[in-house]
Amino acid sequence: MFCAPVDFPQSLHPEKGRLPVPTSNSGLSPLDFEGIDSAVSAAVADIAVASSLDELKEVRLAHTGDKAPLTQANRQMAEVASHDKAAAGKALGAARAKVSQAVQERQAELENERDARVLVEEAVDVTLPVRSGPHGARHPLNSLQERMVDTFVAMGWEVAEGPEVEAEWYNFDALNFDADHPARQMQDTFFLESPAGTENESSGLVLRTHTSPVQARAMLERSAALLEEGKGIYVVCPGKTFRTDELDATHTPVFHQIEGLAVDTGLTMAHLKGTLDHLARSMFGPEATTRLRPSFFPFTEPSAEMDLTCFVCSGGDAACRTCSGTGWIEWGGCGMTHPHVLRAAGIDPDTYTAFAFGMGIERTLMFRHGVADMRDMVEGDVRFSRQFGMEI
Ligand code: PHE
Repeated sequence: MFCAPVDFPQSLHPEKGRLPVPTSNSGLSPLDFEGIDSAVSAAVADIAVASSLDELKEVRLAHTGDKAPLTQANRQMAEVASHDKAAAGKALGAARAKVSQAVQERQAELENERDARVLVEEAVDVTLPVRSGPHGARHPLNSLQERMVDTFVAMGWEVAEGPEVEAEWYNFDALNFDADHPARQMQDTFFLESPAGTENESSGLVLRTHTSPVQARAMLERSAALLEEGKGIYVVCPGKTFRTDELDATHTPVFHQIEGLAVDTGLTMAHLKGTLDHLARSMFGPEATTRLRPSFFPFTEPSAEMDLTCFVCSGGDAACRTCSGTGWIEWGGCGMTHPHVLRAAGIDPDTYTAFAFGMGIERTLMFRHGVADMRDMVEGDVRFSRQFGMEI
């Protein structure tokens, strides 16, 4: 009942080599059980010796791909006489299953081997010594600035920003400085040249001499919300400021200030004083406090200089050289925002009152950490910054 055996393709002959698999379409008959067995043995043998996943892929394609004998035999199933179909189908199905199982097993083995090898080859020795050496440190002015800002953010204040190259209008006019007000000179302003060929003598731009122009900007930006929703304006603005000072132990032409502004109904000097005392305590400890002395700024009325408890003697040493025995050192300026300034920002001074203050961050750092010379803060020597910790 068996058909006459067909010729073994050369490469599938049990005694001959296994690869390459023939590409002839002479075909393996589904009824050639011996031939099928040999094809399976050849495939299994090749699979067993495939030494890499790539090689296994080639072997798999050779024995199960389109031109593989078993695939060809499968294709001939249609021509098998119906009474032989069951036997042929069973034999061929079993043969193909064996090959694909062998492939799967070898695949798993090779993958495991690869994974084990990768684990060894790509292992990182975490005990190797790292390259040590200083990487740098955060500048103490930045850290302190953030700390001061945090004090206000914790009370729900917003942080506002403005440009360092500022319109004269914001730096002076909006703040109630007259055109010929001596305070314009008092602040030792860096005026920026107008572009060549322009007729105007002044470009109308300055390097901002203080952070107060941000008050005007913050009020203009937020006045709509203030009027419509009755929300007060509470902002702090830290940033760089510039004056034509020579660099020495107590001056630097580029320095930092932090500005505070509160606009609401019913604000008084008492709120200003309470806010400043809170800042003093959060910077210098529970004993610290502030004192206000009458002063003048065009944009506040009344205006005050703000003093801080002497950080050296706390007022207990008549011979203290830091405070000249007064117990107080000057920290910044403050006052109730002038009605002209509120009006310039579109806020009605009959309904709203506001207070503002500003102080130097360099000065605060000097007080807080006993830094005697401001030049240390600008020279960029990392040994200075590293004393404050915070390696990065
Ligand atoms: N801008 C002032 C200065 O730089 C300080 C100040 C801020 C005074 C806010 C009053 C209100 O000297």
